[in-house]
Amino acid sequence: MPIGCHSSHSLLTFTAKPQAVYQSILKPLLFRLAPERAHALTVSALRLVLALPGLSWLFRRVYASPSEGLERELMGLRFPNPVGLAAGFDKDGRHAAAMSALGFGFIEIGTVTPRAQPGNPQPRLFRLPQDAALINRMGFNNEGVDALVSRLQNLSRSGYLIGGNIGKNKDTPNEEAVSDYLICFEKLHPYVDYFVVNVSSPNTPNLRDLQEKEPLAKLLLALQNLNQSLAQARPILLKIAPDLTDSQLDDIIELVGTTGIAGLIATNTTISRDGLHTPADALSSIGAGGLSGAPLRQRATAVIRYLRQRGPSGMVIIGVGGIDGPEAAREKIEAGADLIQVYTALVYEGPALVQRINRGLQQNRL
Ligand code: FNR
Repeated sequence: MPIGCHSSHSLLTFTAKPQAVYQSILKPLLFRLAPERAHALTVSALRLVLALPGLSWLFRRVYASPSEGLERELMGLRFPNPVGLAAGFDKDGRHAAAMSALGFGFIEIGTVTPRAQPGNPQPRLFRLPQDAALINRMGFNNEGVDALVSRLQNLSRSGYLIGGNIGKNKDTPNEEAVSDYLICFEKLHPYVDYFVVNVSSPNTPNLRDLQEKEPLAKLLLALQNLNQSLAQARPILLKIAPDLTDSQLDDIIELVGTTGIAGLIATNTTISRDGLHTPADALSSIGAGGLSGAPLRQRATAVIRYLRQRGPSGMVIIGVGGIDGPEAAREKIEAGADLIQVYTALVYEGPALVQRINRGLQQNRL
C-alpha cells in the first residue's frame, strides 16, 4: 500500500476510533516500556502532536469533551466539566496545556514542594495489569515551587481550571511542615484556581501523621490565615488517604467545619494489598508504595459516601480512585462527589477516557 494511502487510512481510524487504536496499537507498545519511560514518551508525543497546527486542530476535535449540561459552579469557580486530571501526573506543570486537549475540565498540578527533590530511586512505578492498577513510590519527585511558578507564568490557559497540590520536602521534619506548605501556598497563589493540601501520600515518611487532628488543625488554620490575608482567597481542599478509620474521618469532617476549608479530595492511593489478582510474590518483589486504579474503586467510593453523609452541607468533595469509565464516574457522583478525577485508568483505557466519561455523564444528566 502506498505510504500516503496507509497514513491517511490510519489517520481516519485514529480519528474515528481513538480508543480502539489505543487498545490495539499504542497500549501494547507502551506496556513494553518501563512505566516511567512510557509516561514520559506519551506526554512528549502528545506535546509534539499539539505543536503541529493541523494535527493539533484534529486532535482537539477528536478528544473534545461535550460541554452542554456538564458545567459546575463550585467554590466560586466555574468548571467546564466535572472530570479532572488527578495530582501526580503533571508534578511540574509541564503538561497542563497538552493534557487539557484531552477534554479535562480541570488539571491538578503537583504535588510540589518548596525545594526540588529527586524522589525515590527507580524503579518506583509498577503496573499490575491483572488488576488494572499501579503501585508507585515516586516520593514527590519535583523541580520545586519556583520552577513551577515560572512555568505557570508562561502557561496559556483557556477552557480549564488549575489546582495546585502542595506538600513538604522529605527532609523537612513534621514539626516544621507548616512552613513548607505556607511557602508553596504563597508562591503559587497568583497562578492557581484552588489549592490541595496533600498529607496523604504514603511515599514521604511520616507524612500521613499530619492527618491526625492536632497537627492537621494547626496546618489548615495557618494556611487559612495566610489565605484570608491575601487579596483574593483561594478555595483550599484537603486530600485524604483511603486507609483512615471512621473515627479519623470524623475528626477530618469536624476540621472542615472549624477551619472553614472548602472541602476534601477522597482519595489518595492505598497501602492495602487486599483482594488483588497479582500473585503475592510479584507484589513482594515490587515492595512498598501506594496502590491506585480498579482495586481502590470501592474503598474510595465508601469514603466519599461516608463524608457526604456526615459532612457539613456545602462541603465540596472531589472523588478519585479507580474511575475507569462512565459507570465508575456515576458511582462516585451518586456517592456524593461534586467533581471527579482520574489517573491510573488513563494508562489502561487511553486518552479517550475523559471524553467517554463526560459523554456518559451528559447522557445520564449527572
Ligand atoms: C499519584 N497520586 C498523587 N496524589 C497526590 O496528591 N500527589 C502526588 O504527587 C501523586 N502522585 C502520584 C503518582 C502516581 C504515579 C500515581 C499513580 C498516583 C495519587 C492520584 O492523584 C490519585 O489520588 C490516585 O492515583 C487514585 O486515583 P486513580 O489513579 O485510581 O484514578
